[in-house]
Amino acid sequence: MITLAVSKGRVAKQAVEMLSKCGYTFTEDLKTTRKLILESNNGTLQLILMKGADIPVYVDAGVVDMGIVGKDIINESNCDIYEILSLDIGKCKLSVAGFEDFDFKSKKFLKIGTKYPLMTEEYFSSIGIPHEIVALNGSVELAPLIGLSDVIVDIVETGKTLFENNLTVLENIRDISSKVIINKVHFKTKFEKIDPIINSLRT
Ligand code: PRP
Repeated sequence: MITLAVSKGRVAKQAVEMLSKCGYTFTEDLKTTRKLILESNNGTLQLILMKGADIPVYVDAGVVDMGIVGKDIINESNCDIYEILSLDIGKCKLSVAGFEDFDFKSKKFLKIGTKYPLMTEEYFSSIGIPHEIVALNGSVELAPLIGLSDVIVDIVETGKTLFENNLTVLENIRDISSKVIINKVHFKTKFEKIDPIINSLRT
């Protein structure tokens, strides 16, 4: 059986939907189960649900063969994995956000809260604004709201979280979507089992 890690939450739902269209249905319903390991009814795939940031780590270690994970997370990880395929799920944008009309580009110094320090550093260095990055783990919108940072760099999908917290997108940095990643050794040693899965995801 091939093991495939997907991040719990929104992407897992989209991934399971996409996999079922490709013929991989699962023994448990994602909506109701609290199980973290699900098996496909055809006995070929084991779905492992984990925190997105951990997926490249497990795939790099070879504990899991493949993963479906956002490009944002791949970019922030230092893992040595193959990025094989772009998927039409997990679509969102990496954006600078803050209070409406906050002209961040005119500031002499900026404090930025983010879960994505590497991409944030790359962007703010490229536009030449002196800055300090505060690395956070979640609920990043709190940072400007309660005074930790001037702006945030975060993933925006529907924009609901920003809207409900009186924040707005100030600049879009890049488009993000989910990718299929594979352990480099397993891609060779388990190619015959992995290849049909990739091909069915490709169509
Ligand atoms: C992500 C992101 C935003 C939110 C954006 O957080 O960091 O907070 O989703 O989605 P929206 O534009 O559809 O509102 P996530 O749900 O992963 O939770 P976290 O804050 O705990 O990281």
